Amino acid sequence: MGEVIYTGKAKQMWSTDDPEVLRVVYMDQATALNGKKKDQIKGKGQINNEISTLVFEYLAKQGIKTHFIKKLSPTEELVHKVEIIPLEAVTRNIATGHFVTRFGVEDGLVFETPVEETYYKSDALDDPFINESQTLALGLATKAELTEIWELSRKTNQLLTELFAKADLTLVDFKLEFGRLSDGTLVLADEFSPDNCRLWDKKTKAHMDKDVYRQDLGELTPVYEEVLARLQQALKEE
Ligand code: C5P
Repeated sequence: MGEVIYTGKAKQMWSTDDPEVLRVVYMDQATALNGKKKDQIKGKGQINNEISTLVFEYLAKQGIKTHFIKKLSPTEELVHKVEIIPLEAVTRNIATGHFVTRFGVEDGLVFETPVEETYYKSDALDDPFINESQTLALGLATKAELTEIWELSRKTNQLLTELFAKADLTLVDFKLEFGRLSDGTLVLADEFSPDNCRLWDKKTKAHMDKDVYRQDLGELTPVYEEVLARLQQALKEE
């Protein structure tokens, strides 16, 4: 069974018999506003585990190194243990969310070149924006790691923009996290689900992601189920 080694807002990490392998348990919890809004949403953990599994398997097939090993059960997966780099790498294809509130541009503005932003992962500090020299000064990552983080983020953006387009979804923006394996190899970690990306329906522009919860736009589970169904269909046609 192992021991809980970390409890996040939507997932728990457990140790296993193998010191290099962890078990991730997806929980039915949704949070927003850095945890100030919190609710139990039945079935969410299972759907996110399913979506993230499909995305990580797809990315691995396309040559992106990830921490993912396999899905264990509807709500659990096995991953390689990593030392998480405490940075959130956000890529934006379209202006919305905090980009709009921060810079006052029109919601829906399509960027010619995707915008790249880095945040310091710290609940206590409310995940502040962080630049490269600050990252280096704090010793959070090396320059080479930052270069690799953005190379992997750009490749992921290309691959997933195409994949979600086949599911009639626009990949608006997303957040990635990275970690180091015991030999120092940098890999994509955490998850990829509608909790950490924005997806808009291609035709109606309806929100098909956690904005439904953040903005109280209706029930979340049916929306996530629809994303999963469309993704499964798109992968079948691959
Ligand atoms: O809120 P903001 O507009 O900065 O979010 C940009 C993207 O990063 C969104 O897809 C959001 O879901 C994701 N994000 C995240 N975790 C955070 C902050 C943002 O997954 N702590």
